[in-house]
Amino acid sequence: MSEFRNRAEDQQKIYQRWAPVYDRVYRGILRDGHRKLAALAAAAGTDILEIGVGTGLTLGHYRRHCRVTGIDISEHMIARAREKAKREKLEHVQALEVMDAHALSFAENSFDAVCLPFVITLIPEPERALDECARVLRPGGEIILASKLGDGAGLQGAIETAVAPLVRHIGWSSAFRLHRIIAWAERRGDFAAAEILPVFPNGFFKIVRLKQSGLAA
Ligand SMILES: C[S@@+](CC[C@H](N)C(=O)[O-])C[C@H]1O[C@@H](n2cnc3c(N)ncnc32)[C@H](O)[C@@H]1O
Repeated sequence: MSEFRNRAEDQQKIYQRWAPVYDRVYRGILRDGHRKLAALAAAAGTDILEIGVGTGLTLGHYRRHCRVTGIDISEHMIARAREKAKREKLEHVQALEVMDAHALSFAENSFDAVCLPFVITLIPEPERALDECARVLRPGGEIILASKLGDGAGLQGAIETAVAPLVRHIGWSSAFRLHRIIAWAERRGDFAAAEILPVFPNGFFKIVRLKQSGLAA
């Protein structure tokens, strides 16, 4: 079995345990990122795909004129998101499906914005997932990420690298670097970092907006 398959199954097991308590632990600390990301997505257009939608904490922040589709590899997290969408009457949410970010089942040019809140650092092959996001995005659309995206510098960078193997077992990631996303965009040549925003608490998390230039990759 490939390392990639192992890590996808790891994520499913980890988030099966997180699903019942996730909102209580994360709602407050991630709210600023969720709110800002949802506003940026609506500015990019009406058809929005959220990758790694989890329990759906972002869903209520999207503007009601948008059409939002969410996917996640964990059926337990998606089940919570479905309950939330029903309970809170989130009629702008069109579909919530179990799917792997590495292999999206959507057609090319389907969405104006593809959002990845607090997920890119957990994906085994992030560049492959970003290629999938680019494929389903319309020309001129945006990929919007929120995560802990350090630069690896100094003592903090050294600590983040040292603890990365430990925190992976509880569904966190500390060693993912912002430059990996920027390098992906530069390699393709059809995306550029339009904005990097600090997010609560005190810039610990960041939002990155990657805008598709409309040029061929
Ligand atoms: C930290 S949670 C973030 C959930 C939500 N986006 C939020 O901000 O609250 C990470 C989510 O990514 C999902 N995930 C991890 N790997 C994935 C993959 N390869 N494809 C789709 N979802 C994935 C997990 O199941 C989990 O629900």
